[in-house]
This record gives sequence, C-alpha cells and structure tokens, in this order.
Amino acid sequence: MEKIILTGDRPTGKLHLGHYVGSIKKRLEMQSLGDYSKMYVMIADSQALTDNFDNPDKIRDSIKEIILDYLAGGVDPKKVVFFIQSMIPELTEYTFYYLNLVSLARLERNPTVKSELTQKEFRNNIPMGFLCYPVSQAADITLFRATDIPVGVDQLPMLEQTNEIVRKFNSLYGSTLVECKALLPDNETCFRLPGTDGKNKMSKSLGNCIYLSDSEEELREKVRSMYTDPDHIKVSDPGKVEGNVVFTYLDAFADSESFKKYCNDYESLDELKKAYQKGGVGDMYIKKILFNILNEFLTPIRARRLEYQKDMNNVMEILKKGTEEARGVAKENLAKFKKALRIDYFD
Ligand code: TRP
Repeated sequence: MEKIILTGDRPTGKLHLGHYVGSIKKRLEMQSLGDYSKMYVMIADSQALTDNFDNPDKIRDSIKEIILDYLAGGVDPKKVVFFIQSMIPELTEYTFYYLNLVSLARLERNPTVKSELTQKEFRNNIPMGFLCYPVSQAADITLFRATDIPVGVDQLPMLEQTNEIVRKFNSLYGSTLVECKALLPDNETCFRLPGTDGKNKMSKSLGNCIYLSDSEEELREKVRSMYTDPDHIKVSDPGKVEGNVVFTYLDAFADSESFKKYCNDYESLDELKKAYQKGGVGDMYIKKILFNILNEFLTPIRARRLEYQKDMNNVMEILKKGTEEARGVAKENLAKFKKALRIDYFD
C-alpha cells in the first residue's frame, strides 16, 4: 500500500519544544528516510477556530509564525507539501457526511476532547464545532488517503475515531477509504513533554513553554527558573530525578555527544543522575548543562528563521503552492467519495 504521511498543528501561537519532540522530529526523520509517496503538513486553522472563533486575528497571525517555525525547524519544502486547512473546501464536505456516522455519545467520550472541555469551562455552552472537531480531523486524514500520522499521544483518540469512521463508511458504501496509524516519538519522554513549571504539558495558555524562536536570553531565563526538586535546597541534599523537569529535558534532548561536550565531570547522563540523587550536585550545575544543550539545538533553528523571515513573500508562496497542490488531490479524491455515496448525479 502507498505510504502517505499527513500531520498538522493548530495555528494558535508559535511552536514550542513539545511540538518539536512530539511530532516535528518524526517528520524530519521521515523526510530524510524518504520512503513515502507524499508528505503533507497542514496548518489546521479551521480546527483552531473551533475554540477561537471569537479571535480570528490570532489564528491569522499565527499562520505566518507556524510556517516559519516549520521551515526554521528544518522541514523541507522540496520534500513536503504545506497547506492551509480552510483553503480546502472538500474537507468541509467530507466532514458533513462523516457527521452522519458518529453519535453524540461517541463524541463526548473522546478523552482528549473531554479534558479540553473541562479545561475550557464551556459548561452548558459547548460549541458544536468544537465537539465535532475530531470528525473534521478524520476528514483531514482520509481525504488525503493518509496512512501514517506523526503525532503526540494526545492525538491517539482522534486516530481511533478516524478509523472507526473509515470502517463504517467502507461497510456502508463500499471499500473507499484507508485506515491510518500513528507514528509516535521513539523516546517515551517525548510523548508528553512537561512545561517548565513541571505541572502540566507544555501549553501556551499556561505560560510554561520554550519556543523554537526563543532568543538565547529568553532561553537562559526559562531554564534558570525551571522546576526541579523543591526539597533539594542545599547542594549537599539528595535530589529527586523523577518529575525534575531539568532531567526530563535532558532525557529528551541530550545525546552522548552533546552531553560529553557540556558536562566534563560525569561520564554519562545516568552518572549525573546518580550523583544528583546522592547529593552534592547543585541545580545551577544541571541547568547550565541543559541550557548549553538546548542553546546548541536552537541556534541553527534561530538562524534559519531569520533567513526565511527576510523574504516573507517567498514563505507565503511556499504555502500557496502547497495549498494548490493539495487542492488538486482533494478534488480528485472527492469525486471518488461522492461516487461511493451515490451523490455523483451528473457524472
Ligand atoms: N489536532 C491536532 C493538534 O491539536 C492538529 C491536527 C488537525 C492534526 N488535523 C490533523 C494532526 C490531522 C494530525 C492529522 O495538534
């Protein structure tokens, strides 16, 4: 079967390290392997509007930030088709027919939507568009016949719902759509990167993010105030490694090479952890290592961002070209979809 990769992000601000380890890293890996017939990266503005319908300018402005973050992060416009969700009206058509195949109870059971609903405190005013966004996500995936979806674990319920819709559609209207699977990060620490506060996952609204576009100074300050172990007061005190964000990020970002470069006193990250647990290693010490490793990681990303930023017309042109290409595929696939649904009256 043809391998088609598709993934996307909601444009509600700049991309952060959680986005990077959760899915961008996988896109880069796939892109260099090259064993796929198409890779799409979609900016999910329609989905972002489902809970930001009162703030369209935020979404509009974020589109530029996100495409810059992709390009700066190394996603290659020669190997990947970037497009904007709302510019593909076929997605809306798919969504409309999929809504027949999903019950209200099923939508309310989606665990990711459930936790978002509590967080947003909609109470008795849940917008239907928000509740139904997993259905629109099923359209994103199936319209492009995507088989492999690089995502973080919070998106697994969406893929499960997508595959339910696919099976139902195929059994009712004949085998038309293909099922998909998730491509999760290889490193489990990256499944759900915590924010710098250590309490929640990295999230704009909580102000606990390190952005791909953060300057050296911003990074320094964020690492300096990072949550460690509140009981580790004196350097000589034994410290905890579990739940200590500095170690979580070291697990996510340090490899043996970068560790050796920035830590001369310990052989490996494991050795450093052991020493910290025993007592005698200060928070400033571990933070300095982390800062250096993250700064080395972000330096080329910042440089590429600056380079692309010089010519925003070119950046928008990349997005426009990709959207045109995606639209062509969408039109073709919609025709087959309508045929299966018996609504291809004049063909
Ligand atoms: N729901 C995803 C997120 O919040 C964004 C998204 C929209 C997506 N459509 C998609 C991801 C299709 C993968 C495939 O990050």
